[in-house]
Amino acid sequence: MNLTGLHILLTYQCTFECDHCFVWGSPWQTGVMTLGQVQNALQQAQDLGSVNSIYFEGGEPFLYYPILLRAVQEATRLGFQVGIVSNAYWAVTVKDAQEWLRPFAGLIQDLSVSSDLYHYNEPLSCQSRNALQAAHNLDIPIGTISIAQPETSHATLAVGQLPPDESGVMYRGRAVEKLAPRAPWKSWAQFTECPYENLSEPGRVHLDPFGNLHICQGISIGNLFLTPLKEICASFKPDAHPITGPLLDGGPAELVSRYELPHGETYADACHLCYAARLDLRTRFPDSLLPGQMYGVVDSVAA
Ligand SMILES: C[S@@+](CC[C@H](N)C(=O)[O-])C[C@H]1O[C@@H](n2cnc3c(N)ncnc32)[C@H](O)[C@@H]1O
Ligand code: SF4
Repeated sequence: MNLTGLHILLTYQCTFECDHCFVWGSPWQTGVMTLGQVQNALQQAQDLGSVNSIYFEGGEPFLYYPILLRAVQEATRLGFQVGIVSNAYWAVTVKDAQEWLRPFAGLIQDLSVSSDLYHYNEPLSCQSRNALQAAHNLDIPIGTISIAQPETSHATLAVGQLPPDESGVMYRGRAVEKLAPRAPWKSWAQFTECPYENLSEPGRVHLDPFGNLHICQGISIGNLFLTPLKEICASFKPDAHPITGPLLDGGPAELVSRYELPHGETYADACHLCYAARLDLRTRFPDSLLPGQMYGVVDSVAA
């Protein structure tokens, strides 16, 4: 497993509760990574040797501003390329946004701000425009991420890291409950591969506040607070993992067939079928399908 990117979810908490959110971000969520835990993760990423980029996201990483800043400084000091993904709630004016961003100038190589009709009531929000202007003034590289509405048929599929500009919604997490009913559905049997994630050779993984390393939101391949990252990477056998194994064999349809799960006739996309199957499998594979946060459990004790 040649890991080059580690995306750190500083918290599951968020200022918003977007309908499409695949991590169920919310003001009511629990789960915050401490500075010590971030430092531990960064050190492990450096020890691994192959990781060159670190992203901070969440939830909303700016909610824990001093920790975010220290974490970015530390990651830069260790020689990583650093990025942040934010909803830019803090960019109330250009002048204010500059104050929020000034400490990051010269430290980060990318600031991705999300703006679309899930986050705000206009495609390019006032906050995003302020953040864009402030970042330009400070020479901070910045881009916007925008997720299309379910009715948009031409949206591109994002494979791996979300690209700048518009891409399609993936029906995982809250998007299943809130948005799947608005999408056209197809036969479950058609979903014979995972179209979005490289499950056999993931280039980047997400680390959550509890130490879980997610190959896709809610599918853990190990816990970095319990097992060294080096060991997790060295021992990861995608074909033998109870969830990625069947997914690699035949996509979400195989996951359903392998474990003889009840299923509907149609689903909005592969993620929708996969997420529904995983909800049914959580008690059977509690070490792989966690934490509760990724499955919409609010106030769950850290798994
Ligand atoms: C989970 S958010 C965390 C960072 C920050 N709160 C934000 O919204 O940018 C990271 C990115 O994932 C995107 N995202 C969330 N749920 C998604 C889904 N179901 N399909 C596609 N992208 C999604 C968001 O739009 C955002 O650009
Ligand atoms: S997409 Fe981002 S802003 Fe929206 S609820 Fe999720 S974490 Fe929060």
